[in-house]
Amino acid sequence: MKLGVLISGRGSNLEALLAAKSEGRLPKADFRVVVSNRAGAPGLDVARKFGVAARVVASSEYKGRRDDHDSAVSGILREHGCEAIILAGYMRVLGAAFVGDWRNRIVNIHPSLLPSFPGLDAQRQALEHGVKVSGCTVHFVDEGTDTGPIILQRTVPVLATDTEESLAARILVEEHGAIVEAIALLTENESNVAGRRAASPAEQV
Ligand code: GRF
Repeated sequence: MKLGVLISGRGSNLEALLAAKSEGRLPKADFRVVVSNRAGAPGLDVARKFGVAARVVASSEYKGRRDDHDSAVSGILREHGCEAIILAGYMRVLGAAFVGDWRNRIVNIHPSLLPSFPGLDAQRQALEHGVKVSGCTVHFVDEGTDTGPIILQRTVPVLATDTEESLAARILVEEHGAIVEAIALLTENESNVAGRRAASPAEQV
């Protein structure tokens, strides 16, 4: 399956995916292109290190023109033959037209146990709420913010001594495993969607 990855920054989830691929753990995944909405995102160098095309569509040049930005990104993904898209720290909301064009073919990773704490600063939201368990969620993208069908989740404890940074670091370790597992399912065609439920055939959805 030909894949495009959208990023905005560091790219550690991208690196987990490309490392898994290079180690033979994602045999059906073909990473074709990485697109960043920020020039200078460190994740662009991660892509280059693994020999994957790295492109920038700077959102700063598309102020107030979300659909035009989305179209430019879509154009690059189609140019590279992408069949599905992974949002790996893409800090920009996608418009309804983009989501409609790629329905059930966009996967996002979010650092909380959705539906709790969607949107920005998920780890801070979790700490402020006082939850004892948090984690990460990999889900298909729909028109809402972090609301689409859930593919899988991993949990971590929240400790009394946690800061936003220490909790984020603990969750990030699980993110790296979760995103690889979810993309393995997706590329093996074992992650179908029925209503709100995304599941493997073994789960008989
Ligand atoms: C991750 O915490 C991800 O869940 C969130 O943004 C962060 C991206 O980190 N959506 P990285 O760029 O993959 O290192």
